[in-house]
Amino acid sequence: MLQTHAEAAREAAARADAGFLWDFWYPAARSTAVRGQKLVTAMLLEVPLVLGRTSEGKVFAMRDSCPHRGMPLSYGRLDGRVVECCYHGWRFDACSGQCVEIPSLSSQDKLKVERIFAGHYPCQERDGYVWVYMNAPGTKLPETAPAAPALTVFSDKYRITHLSCELPSHIDHGIIGLMDPAHGPFVHQSWFWRKRGSIHEKAKQFEPIPNGFRMSPHSPSTNSAPYQLLKKITGEPVTTTIDFVLPNIRTEEDRSGKMWFSSRATVTPVRRDLCRIDFVAAWDLFFLPVSIFRMFGKIFLRQDQETMIQQAEGLKHNPQLMLIDDADRPAKWYFALKANLIESRRTGEAMAHPMDGPVTLRWRS
Ligand code: FES
Ligand SMILES: [Fe+2]
Repeated sequence: MLQTHAEAAREAAARADAGFLWDFWYPAARSTAVRGQKLVTAMLLEVPLVLGRTSEGKVFAMRDSCPHRGMPLSYGRLDGRVVECCYHGWRFDACSGQCVEIPSLSSQDKLKVERIFAGHYPCQERDGYVWVYMNAPGTKLPETAPAAPALTVFSDKYRITHLSCELPSHIDHGIIGLMDPAHGPFVHQSWFWRKRGSIHEKAKQFEPIPNGFRMSPHSPSTNSAPYQLLKKITGEPVTTTIDFVLPNIRTEEDRSGKMWFSSRATVTPVRRDLCRIDFVAAWDLFFLPVSIFRMFGKIFLRQDQETMIQQAEGLKHNPQLMLIDDADRPAKWYFALKANLIESRRTGEAMAHPMDGPVTLRWRS
């Protein structure tokens, strides 16, 4: 059947707007993967990137596409400061993207090489990740990009570890899956965490914070074994604070006496049908070795991943969805925050927050 113009336009618009939030930092790769003279590929928000490290150790991110004829720059080589395209040898300063040489030019040519730029993005290293600031296509970079997010730590010495997994889902499903309190008893039943039978009613207070919301400091659930253990060891109450902030960051800080645990999960859009959870945790709990934590952490992530793989099967058919109160209220806030941010960027007016003030949500989990 022939497509009408209106249909074609709608489709083009849907393609153009994949529901990504631009002008934020996203983790593109682990720091350890970007070493030596290696050029490493990554994708964020459907933008192909090439990452590398100069001989001074500074990380950089370019669009993985030569401005000449589109050859991925990742097939070229890096000499410590300059990336050379493998096709016709154009050379670009790795940190600014500025073209520094076009080998085919003769002495007669007037082309201003220094006016040619390969796409490049601000790039910072933090908490073991290479972060890339993804400014919206067709916009100029801000004069000074804000600093990339940093994990909060509460002492000089601590253990730290990283886990990640891919989800075959749109970013929105990845994120609301991350903040969903009601799947725990079904998806994360494990002897070491909690049993399905331990489901009980909970009331948690939430408050608005800039670009997000906070589950106000509280004592964590009595049906979670690790928190019980921590309380036993320190003899002091455990306090947990959980924040979500746009575009994609969930942080959790647990403190008990002098001991602490701090984690951050980010859900990063790779493509519209693929996102990735990057999870970093740091702690100074002497009784918790990295290996044990990783073992449990992997089980947890794997449970979420399997669930999202199954959900993706269902979502392929574009079902009607519903969000219910109160268990899905955080998901509703997320969608509202996102819409309000986009609107405030469009109008230039202050962003409206979907919450008027603190509110208590109740659910069973
Ligand atoms: S395509 Fe890169 S130099 Fe020609
Ligand atoms: Fe989960």
